[in-house]
Amino acid sequence: MQNYQDVLAEVLIESEPLQARVKELGAQISADYPDGDLLLICILRGGVPFMVDLSRSITTPHRMDFMAVASYGVGARESTGSARVTLDLKMDIRGLHVLLVEDIIDSGHTIAAVLNMLKTREPKSLKVCALLDKPERRETHVPIDYLGFSIPNKFVFGYGLDLDEYYRNLPFVGVVDLSKYPPSK
Ligand code: IMP
Ligand code: MG
Repeated sequence: MQNYQDVLAEVLIESEPLQARVKELGAQISADYPDGDLLLICILRGGVPFMVDLSRSITTPHRMDFMAVASYGVGARESTGSARVTLDLKMDIRGLHVLLVEDIIDSGHTIAAVLNMLKTREPKSLKVCALLDKPERRETHVPIDYLGFSIPNKFVFGYGLDLDEYYRNLPFVGVVDLSKYPPSK
């Protein structure tokens, strides 16, 4: 795998504004959930760096759980409209205030499928916190209660977002140079 510098077209969101925005979201969430009954649900794997930093910015007691979903069509860079759970939650969310933490809302199909599935388990509330939103790409309505940044329709990586599973560790969000890292199909 190439070094990230070789596939980076431009840095879209530098580390400093990114961290500042995550702190703001953490403060807002702390104010909105003062009672210590919040459960953060991280959607693996892209949501990990964001949820870790967000959690450290939330000053009220909260818990964490994790789930993984797969869009049908393995290897595709775009989701295909449905998702299946590949790793389910450890916790029973009935009666809990749940906040789903996602890296990016693109077509919206992944998060819409997860919301539908989790609603059937009767949480007390169910909201969405996304680091990034690509509104131009939306195919299904998704309510985003907390949003980091709205971005243009470009393929990005870093801070949880991957290029074929690499570069999730980068502290910034960058745009892929598609002339150097072309889509697999
Ligand atoms: P959706 O179901 O189309 O909203 O897809 C959301 C998922 O697609 C995200 O959780 C990401 O894993 C992936 N994704 C969408 N856009 C990007 C991107 O620009 N870079 C990396 N992953 C992306
Ligand atoms: Mg993801």
